[in-house]
Amino acid sequence: MSADETNARDERRPGRAETAPSLPAVRLEPMTELDFQESVKRAIPRHAAEQVRRGFWTEAEATDASRAEMAQLLPQGRATPHYHFCNIVDARDGSEVGETWYNVQVKGGKAQFWIDWIWIEPQLRRRGYASQVFRHFETEAAEQGADRIGLHVLADNDSALALYSKLGYVTSNMRMTKLLDRAVKGRPR
Ligand SMILES: CC(C)(COP(=O)(O)OP(=O)(O)OC[C@H]1O[C@@H](n2cnc3c(N)ncnc32)[C@H](O)[C@@H]1OP(=O)(O)O)[C@@H](O)C(=O)NCCC(=O)NCCS
Repeated sequence: MSADETNARDERRPGRAETAPSLPAVRLEPMTELDFQESVKRAIPRHAAEQVRRGFWTEAEATDASRAEMAQLLPQGRATPHYHFCNIVDARDGSEVGETWYNVQVKGGKAQFWIDWIWIEPQLRRRGYASQVFRHFETEAAEQGADRIGLHVLADNDSALALYSKLGYVTSNMRMTKLLDRAVKGRPR
């Protein structure tokens, strides 16, 4: 996801996750270097496969391209300025339930809070973990001086779209594609 795609235009007030006592308490713990390396190892093939599926890259080149993009995005790895790489932990028992990457950068005189990635273990979904992480993000974004949160989501990621919509996120820009006749794979997205 590119931070350049942000600058959300939400005229609405950002949505607030509802307070529900049954939702699990979570905390974000910074990844160790080992966690981070494992997370990157998952991200590279995931992004490569996504780009192939969408018809942007060939299978033969995708892994190298994905690795190159990662190196460009995070030139100093885990120490890349402004970036945070966290495990999502259930505060009740300390178990890891997912992971998230986000960054906070000042651009044009304003703090820009951008969520790069959030992932909840498949067997633990629909229990409110992601919603709770977003509540945490809202607090942190406000503390860092940001007045909104930006993120990028693929148009066919129904679960993420449902989550963001429920939390009050609105579309702030759109990327458009027209497949030419010679395109053999993918759908316009
Ligand atoms: C998207 C994701 C992070 C959601 O995590 P989660 O912990 O399951 O989300 P929550 O339990 O907080 O869901 C809150 C609400 O979001 C909506 N939602 C979440 N997953 C949904 C699904 N599969 N179908 C429909 N609605 C969904 C629902 O409204 C849900 O509330 P409800 O369960 O009371 O109906 C998780 O599905 C995931 O890790 N997906 C794979 C990685 C990914 O796509 N990340 C986003 C990249 S942009």
